[in-house]
Amino acid sequence: MNRKKFFQKLGLSTGAIMAVYCMGGLSGCAQDQTVPTPNSNVDFNLDLSSQENAVLNQTGGFVIAHKVVIARTAVDTFAAVTQICSHEGQQQVTFQASSEEFYCTAHGARYDTKGHGLNSNGSRGLTTYQTVLQGNMLHVFA
Ligand code: FES
Repeated sequence: MNRKKFFQKLGLSTGAIMAVYCMGGLSGCAQDQTVPTPNSNVDFNLDLSSQENAVLNQTGGFVIAHKVVIARTAVDTFAAVTQICSHEGQQQVTFQASSEEFYCTAHGARYDTKGHGLNSNGSRGLTTYQTVLQGNMLHVFA
């Protein structure tokens, strides 16, 4: 009899079994996964006059390029963070203009525009990048 069948025989649900696995430090718990390191060699330009980046000309607009989420957070302010979530490493971070925060669609991690975590899944924060706007060119770099 394997471990799962043993727990099921005791009448434990799948959720309870997973809790036992995670609390016991056994392999297979999602929180034990190694989170990939965000790219530290970020250095690229976005042409805001091009069609694909035009959304960055309005506050609340965002684009994803080179695994970086770049958002226009105010008339003259941008925020850039890694698209790789620090919770479990999913490449699912996006920007929510309505709440002015970065958000991971995998399990709901939330981050402010400076990459600070706003809930438990986002507690490790996000790697941020610098931005400089010169004319129509937005420079994004580490
Ligand atoms: S990977 Fe879990 S919230 Fe992003």
